[in-house]
Amino acid sequence: MTPKTFKIKSFGCQMNVYDGERMAEMLAQQGMTPADEALDADLVVLNTCHIREKAAEKAYSDVGRLKREDGSKPLIALAGCVAQAEGAEAKRRSQLIDIVVGPQAYHRLPEMVAQASRGARPVDTDMPAAAKFDALPARRRAAPSAFLTVQEGCDKFCTYCVVPYTRGAEISRPWADIVAEAHSLVEAGAREIVLLGQNVNAWTDGSRGLAELARELATIDGLERIRYTTSHPADMTDALIAAHGEVDKLMPYLHLPVQSGSNRILKAMNRSHTVETYLATLEKMRAARSDIALSGDFIVGFPGETEEDFEATLRLVDEVRYASAYSFKYSPRPGTPAATMEDQIAREVMDERLQRLQDRINTHQLAFNRSKVGSDTQVLIERKGRHEGQMIGKTPWLQSVHVETSAALGDLIDVTLVQAGPNSLTGATLQKVAA
Ligand code: SAH
Ligand code: SF4
Ligand code: F3S
Repeated sequence: MTPKTFKIKSFGCQMNVYDGERMAEMLAQQGMTPADEALDADLVVLNTCHIREKAAEKAYSDVGRLKREDGSKPLIALAGCVAQAEGAEAKRRSQLIDIVVGPQAYHRLPEMVAQASRGARPVDTDMPAAAKFDALPARRRAAPSAFLTVQEGCDKFCTYCVVPYTRGAEISRPWADIVAEAHSLVEAGAREIVLLGQNVNAWTDGSRGLAELARELATIDGLERIRYTTSHPADMTDALIAAHGEVDKLMPYLHLPVQSGSNRILKAMNRSHTVETYLATLEKMRAARSDIALSGDFIVGFPGETEEDFEATLRLVDEVRYASAYSFKYSPRPGTPAATMEDQIAREVMDERLQRLQDRINTHQLAFNRSKVGSDTQVLIERKGRHEGQMIGKTPWLQSVHVETSAALGDLIDVTLVQAGPNSLTGATLQKVAA
């Protein structure tokens, strides 16, 4: 039977969210309609993440949950990074899976759905360089803040990480394609564009880099904000730093993962930066844009990490005073060099370090949010709040703000920040304050 309805569930990073949107557009173009619930859909696409063991295992438990009470099931497509990492093996692990499609092959999903409807179990984990983008339909709908993938893959081979294997080598989409997609997103309602890449600041067309691309996108009327994520410290060029001081639409926020505050661990991770080069980059960034909000990623319990190494990470967090940061327990990934390193750290030690690190990060996050209380700023309204009349938007520094307002989705409004918590702020519209 040819499926008429579909449900896409995306996990993992923003690039998977972007891919999920593109798959939805493609299936809609085939005449299929989205279903609210996975169990009501004829086709379910699980767009999976392989970054940590828990994420990868989740993919299979989710597949298992797609059996209906009457014994039937939707067509199931395993997409994303677990599909790429496991290929045909995924079909052996779960008989319920009908389609296995990798992140570089999903433009062929409609064809594979047709094959699966006839009883086949197709697998496609080819990695042709960027061919998929040419085969995707144009963008017609966009949220106020829209994702736009400009770069994919990674050549860095950090010793703990699966991304170079699941997403392949670094490739950059062509300049003209990105500019055209940005224009269609803005026409479709986007006020903010978030440029995405596993190493987004490695984007290049041979002569120009992300700085030039951001300057070009800033000329688009109706586009108010530009962000990009995730950057690698080694690819943070002076040109991009300078652009932060000169391009108003480039938001004062930088997510620059460091992973550890110990040079010994950074070396074992094969990160190509040291604590000192990382801090020097941040200092240049603060010189170019003094109000820049900094964010990062951390791994605790990498093989061989001593209490001393970990304390160096805490010191780095205190020195940088991150506006926000993500931290993870090290998860050994099959096939990566770190998985077979000596001195794997005990789970209890990792739990305890993660707790201490997150406490420290939360302290700085709350301090950063509080530092904005009393100031006026612009908020881009991105979604409805829980109560009638309440909306949720973002400050330039990517903080969530709850505000009572009659403003609509996509409006950029002036607010006074009146209250701060660790994860969000409350704002009041300026008119209201004056009244
Ligand atoms: N390209 C980005 C992010 C890649 S994955 C970068 O280089 O920083 C997002 C985050 O997941 C990483 O920054 C890292 O902190 C975390 N991560 C990656 N592999 C991991 C692993 N094996 N165990 C725990 N965390 C991991
Ligand atoms: Fe993974 Fe390192 Fe590449 Fe980031 S830079 S995606 S952490 S290998
Ligand atoms: Fe996960 Fe793949 Fe993104 S492993 S973090 S979905 S690149």
